[in-house]
Amino acid sequence: MTGWEVRHGDTLLALRELGAGTVDAVVTDPPYSSGGAFRSDRARPTGDKYLKGSQLPDFYGDNRSERGLLAWASLWLAECWRVTVDGGAVAVWTDWRSLPTITDAVQCGGYSWRGIGVWRKPQGRSRPTAGGLWNDTEFIVWGSKGRRSGACLPGVWEAASPRDKLHQTEKPQAALRDLVRFAPEGGLVLDPFAGSGSTGVAALMAGRRFIGIELSGEYVDISRRRLAAVAASGADVARSAPALFDVEGDA
Ligand SMILES: C[S@@+](CC[C@H](N)C(=O)[O-])C[C@H]1O[C@@H](n2cnc3c(N)ncnc32)[C@H](O)[C@@H]1O
Repeated sequence: MTGWEVRHGDTLLALRELGAGTVDAVVTDPPYSSGGAFRSDRARPTGDKYLKGSQLPDFYGDNRSERGLLAWASLWLAECWRVTVDGGAVAVWTDWRSLPTITDAVQCGGYSWRGIGVWRKPQGRSRPTAGGLWNDTEFIVWGSKGRRSGACLPGVWEAASPRDKLHQTEKPQAALRDLVRFAPEGGLVLDPFAGSGSTGVAALMAGRRFIGIELSGEYVDISRRRLAAVAASGADVARSAPALFDVEGDA
């Protein structure tokens, strides 16, 4: 594979079509299944949970219990481990609620858990907890398939959520630009939950190749247009040309 590709489908099925030992790094932001303690909370539309009032499409897979999340994440992480080269890396975004589950799932999948990165958001745009701590952080659980060598990457990123989001839970390029360097230059980065293609944008801009998988047809469309623009112009034109993105278009 050269360049980039986004496949439309369920990641568990799509991962089975990738060859063993073909991916240098898995960098992914799966549904957190956060936003409440009860089944009724989790079943709320993702727009209500994460970005009230947004016109962006809701997304799939955000309704699992912690036990359900552990079982499911272990399955797709085992497939990710199979397709990762020896010495390759995995990085999985999560929040405080699912952090223990994701550290377990990374290891259930077969990787060695190696540490945690931190994304710190400005307090003004995150959630205060009465009598508690600010929930102003999200986390990146990282691990490896065997021994790693190469440069040491930063472990903390201070960045605001992207403005003019293309996905309800879009992650900042400041962190993704470093995380894709888990793959060597020219290497292949896999994101099995590609959303609007943010990981792919970072990968292409850092001289890595990219394969994404996404279940939502709307987000497949957004990510493909976004990545095609990056591949053609070298810039993430989504921010400067929002008309390119017909987010209410057909799936
Ligand atoms: C948290 S979002 C990723 C957002 C992405 N980081 C971005 O910046 O745009 C997770 C994505 O995984 C997708 N998804 C959920 N279940 C899936 C599945 N079984 N197979 C493939 N994609 C799935 C959702 O539709 C959603 O777009």
